[in-house]
Amino acid sequence: MKILVTGGAGYIGSHTLIELYAAGHTAVVVDNLSNSNPESLRRVAEIIGVDEIPFYQVDIRDKAGLESVFAEHTFDACIHFAGLKAVGESVEKPLEYYDNNIAGTLVLVEVMRNHGCKNIIFSSSATVYGDPEEIPITENCPKGVCTNPYGWTKSMLEQVLMDVQKADNEWNVVILRYFNPVGAHLSGRIGENPNGVPNNLMPYITQVAVGKRAELGVFGNDYPTHDGTGVRDYIHVVDLANGHVAALKAIERNCGVGIYNMGTGHGYSVLDMVNAFVKVNGVEVPYNIKPRRTGDIATCYCNPAKAKDELGWEAKFGIEEMVRDSWRWQRENPEGYD
Ligand code: NAD
Ligand code: UD1
Repeated sequence: MKILVTGGAGYIGSHTLIELYAAGHTAVVVDNLSNSNPESLRRVAEIIGVDEIPFYQVDIRDKAGLESVFAEHTFDACIHFAGLKAVGESVEKPLEYYDNNIAGTLVLVEVMRNHGCKNIIFSSSATVYGDPEEIPITENCPKGVCTNPYGWTKSMLEQVLMDVQKADNEWNVVILRYFNPVGAHLSGRIGENPNGVPNNLMPYITQVAVGKRAELGVFGNDYPTHDGTGVRDYIHVVDLANGHVAALKAIERNCGVGIYNMGTGHGYSVLDMVNAFVKVNGVEVPYNIKPRRTGDIATCYCNPAKAKDELGWEAKFGIEEMVRDSWRWQRENPEGYD
């Protein structure tokens, strides 16, 4: 299939491009580079062994820009990664988040419809479950109250896309709810490249390990978990990338709406991650216990059985590969793509 990949220069998009090509698909990337560097696409092309990945520096809110991309290409489906994702920033700048993520997706879907491309895979998040009613979380778990505008954009966009499909059943909408993506491509050439102080655990750990930051703050050790620190479902980004390739199969068999958790089904605490990182990589990660972070929950991991049953997909990499590959990327690219 020929796939439009919005946000393809970013962390998950760049890894997904590699797995798409490996499965025999081709892709065109649209990205405004607001949170990425085109060097990622150059490296992706190098890994795949092609001259270049077709790329348009276009904002998905720019209807004319998107129209011109669709005028040049006929797409079978869109994998829609483009969006802003910093939770704290979304609290400070709600209008910017609703505009970028929601208005952007509305424009994208309208242009897709204009060109008869009615297949979309959407990057959603475990954050839509709020404080989940059940652990492990299945897709039947009701959506919850989000604690920030970023989370609401995901929750609302899921509804928008399902309504679009309901009104016109030529659409196929696959909603992938990612748990906690970590790791990097095994080549060490591409990985997560956060701007400024990382919000998420793994990039913070790698920046401490490489000497950019003095110590990790562990946000709370009084949760009702096995060691008191927060438990999450970390998933290797290459596994997640392959989840998108598997989701294309649901589109091929006209699934209508499909909602899938993308996780491993295993919960690891903050200290489990730190200890695995230290043990596997033989580096020190000094840390200090800090107060809980507002909005955090104790435990979040999924039951990934539905994706296995319906998409034939399951995560293959474990915690050791996650910490090994995160470190390889950071160690070999201490300044990211700069
Ligand atoms: P990322 O920031 O690395 O990638 C997103 C890409 O979208 C960037 O390259 C950015 O420049 C681009 N972009 C943003 N707004 C755009 C716009 N208006 N027009 C065109 N391009 C735009 O993030 P990521 O980690 O690769 O995440 C990809 C998607 O997955 C996002 O939608 C994110 O919300 C979602 N998600 C990520 C995580 C995670 O932990 N990384 C978890 C759950 C969901
Ligand atoms: C966060 C977002 C969520 C988003 C997800 C994936 C919040 C409240 N939620 O989830 O919306 O979908 O990222 O991008 O931000 N931790 C530390 N020290 C740190 C960083 C994190 O102890 O410096 C702990 C956290 O308290 C948590 C765990 O590590 O227990 C994972 O945190 P993080 O990587 O930010 O992911 P989530 O909080 O699960």
